Amino acid sequence: MEVASFLALILSALFLSGANSAIFTFRNNCAFTIWPGTLSGGGTPQLSSTGFELAPYSSSNLDVPAPWSGRFWARTHCFTDPSGKFSCVIGDCGSGNISCNGAGANPPVSLAEFTLAANGGKDFYDVSLVDGFNLPLSITAQGGSESCNSTSCPANVNNVCPQNFAVKGSDGSVLACKSACLALKKPEYCCTGAFDTPQKCPPTNYSKIFKGQCPQAYSYAYDDQTSTFTCSGGANYVITFCP
Ligand SMILES: *[C@@H]1O[C@H](CO)[C@@H](O)[C@H](O)[C@H]1NC(C)=O
Ligand SMILES: *[C@@H]1O[C@H](CO)[C@@H](O)[C@H](O)[C@H]1NC(C)=O
Ligand SMILES: *[C@@H]1O[C@H](CO)[C@@H](O)[C@H](O)[C@H]1NC(C)=O
Repeated sequence: MEVASFLALILSALFLSGANSAIFTFRNNCAFTIWPGTLSGGGTPQLSSTGFELAPYSSSNLDVPAPWSGRFWARTHCFTDPSGKFSCVIGDCGSGNISCNGAGANPPVSLAEFTLAANGGKDFYDVSLVDGFNLPLSITAQGGSESCNSTSCPANVNNVCPQNFAVKGSDGSVLACKSACLALKKPEYCCTGAFDTPQKCPPTNYSKIFKGQCPQAYSYAYDDQTSTFTCSGGANYVITFCP
């Protein structure tokens, strides 16, 4: 084989394998262990890991083949009971195992949501508190050809959680904070029924509590204007918990 065609073969192999896959780095900057969960959506296959343990101040990489859409979150206060069943006080996916195997988080949890395009197209990502909050987190793009802004929820919303929305630990500390939609299940907070368009579902006094703490994160369903971020060019992403 000629050198030129050999190089072309190598390059196309690199393109097909490398450019269609993003490396996600999960960093735990919290002073306690967390158990990230992953859930694919939009008919895309589950990732090679659907849940793993992450010690304080450590990080772990995961390959995400594009196109892909799905979400990541951190489970906390997890334990294995004497029968061998794994569960978490916050963000449990009900699988009984560290792997979630296609099951989603029991809210409230802070979410990192992604839609990755194939071949370096435009990726979309956001931090969502639509169902509530458990930990601060950030999303940072690495590489990418466009202005690929970071987004985050840097504040601990648990500190300002309305009493009736708080999920508390046995010591009374607030472990997570429900959104008004999750806590009250009313159409005006969930943007359902007669409130099912952006015009009919403005921010509420409750969503404003979340927005005030985390201006870049979704505080309710129709918060798209200030909460959706994009990046083109096949970036890799870092998701940091307790940034
Ligand atoms: C958890 O995983 C183990 C081995 O990976 C399996 O034997 C067990 O059935 C799983 N438990 C549940 C509740 O899915
Ligand atoms: C990205 O960040 C820059 C600098 O903070 C800002 O001017 C720009 O509007 C942001 N772009 C998007 C799409 O958020
Ligand atoms: C938000 O508004 C509702 C309905 O008007 C009211 O009952 C509630 O006390 C308000 N809560 C806060 C935290 O302002």
